Amino acid sequence: MATNAQVSEYLTQNEERFVEELKEFLRIPTVSADPECKPHLQRGAEFVHRQLANLGCTAEIVPTAGHPIVYGEWLKSPGAPTVLVYGHYDVQPADPLDLWTTPPFEPTLRHGCLYARGATDDKGQMFTHIKSAEAWLRTIGKLPVNLKYVIEGEEEVGSRNLEDFLNARRDRLQADVAVVSDTSQYGPNQPAITYGLRGIVAVEISLTGPSKDLHSGVFGGAVANPATGIARLIASLHDDQGRVRIPGFYDDVKPLTPSERQLFSELHFDEGAFKAELGITEVAGEEGFSTLERRWARPTCEVNGLFSGYTGAGPKTIVPSKATVKITCRLVPDQNPEKLTEALHQYLKSQCPPSLKFEFTSYHGCPGFVFDPNSPYIEAAKSAIQEAWAVDQVRLIREGGSIPVVQTFKDVLGLDTLLLGWGQNTDNLHSPDEHFSVADFHRGIRASANLWQKLAEMQNRPDSSVHNIC
Ligand code: BES
Ligand code: MN
Ligand code: MN
Repeated sequence: MATNAQVSEYLTQNEERFVEELKEFLRIPTVSADPECKPHLQRGAEFVHRQLANLGCTAEIVPTAGHPIVYGEWLKSPGAPTVLVYGHYDVQPADPLDLWTTPPFEPTLRHGCLYARGATDDKGQMFTHIKSAEAWLRTIGKLPVNLKYVIEGEEEVGSRNLEDFLNARRDRLQADVAVVSDTSQYGPNQPAITYGLRGIVAVEISLTGPSKDLHSGVFGGAVANPATGIARLIASLHDDQGRVRIPGFYDDVKPLTPSERQLFSELHFDEGAFKAELGITEVAGEEGFSTLERRWARPTCEVNGLFSGYTGAGPKTIVPSKATVKITCRLVPDQNPEKLTEALHQYLKSQCPPSLKFEFTSYHGCPGFVFDPNSPYIEAAKSAIQEAWAVDQVRLIREGGSIPVVQTFKDVLGLDTLLLGWGQNTDNLHSPDEHFSVADFHRGIRASANLWQKLAEMQNRPDSSVHNIC
């Protein structure tokens, strides 16, 4: 059944206002990693709170040890399924600022896209689930499902305080399924449902030699150089076949099944377009795996940042005192983040020259997961998306990124999550000139509005089995 005609009409009539409201949201610089932005995170939470309260939700701003969580609920459809909507109002830092065509917190429309930090990740995508509810409530006066919104402000720094919140409210948060729009489509006009994400561990290593930077002529050659030391550590991470050399790294990795490899290959990944988009001449990675397999289903170890010594203009002759590297590993089922952090720690320490001081900091971690792609929830979501995008195919994909809360939903609340990405991986998330297609924004709202109905219908079907996916 198509979306309710009145709901659909409301969505058409209000398109421009939805974009204006999203712009207002995007003007708030909610950079969770930056302590100076703390007041802006509060304002971001207040914006979301206002939006939920205006829907008629019972809404509150819940303080945490870090940034607040916004909770809202609309529970006036007794007997209907309950959906937990999750999103994040925090964003990544905007730098390097000089690579933005227009300033990151001054949202601008260009070529059918809204440019701003957070446009796609995740303010724009998350907002679709608020506007879809608004459309039902302002026309029909009620929703076909019950909704519980959990919108946090610390996703981009590892969702540190969310688990405590979920544990504390375990009973209040009971639901049938979770819905998250914080991933991507498979390509332009190729909507997809994501059934697996990689996990992550994030660490930092510093090596310190002399207590201060030294003259490299006077002292060089007689003291260990921390920059050289850190380069050796990094070089020891991979072998010549692109495999990670940390002992035990692959012990728990669930191998790809032939049928899943087949499923991936049937997506006919366009490697030429991929290379052109990224400005690279060759793909690279672990030998024996395709690009999609490497990105979605194989674990990795990546250097995210590296700094030491003099990085200004012209030469400077020093032996630096200190060198630091930031590393993240992406994990796949069934790798354990704690175990791997420890393995990484021990391995890198063993590679460090004894004359340098080794410091290791662990930031955050979460496991990777896959869901059963044959769940009735996925069927409901597929048809909701098909109607909104007017396509007859919705792909099933995995993704390489991480959303820490998804496994926590499973562990704490027993919930499976529908990952419905409205964005594109080319939307420059985490990069300069982040943007979100306005058409995808509106289609996302429409798909969300359809989804509430499809989920309600699913429960009414006599043969429906509203059961756990895993
Ligand atoms: N929305 C992303 C995750 C994502 C993006 C998944 C695209 C799939 C496709 C999320 O906001 C994110 O950036 N997560 C972080 C993890 C976090 C612990 C810092 C990530 O994946 O680096
Ligand atoms: Mn995100
Ligand atoms: Mn992100």
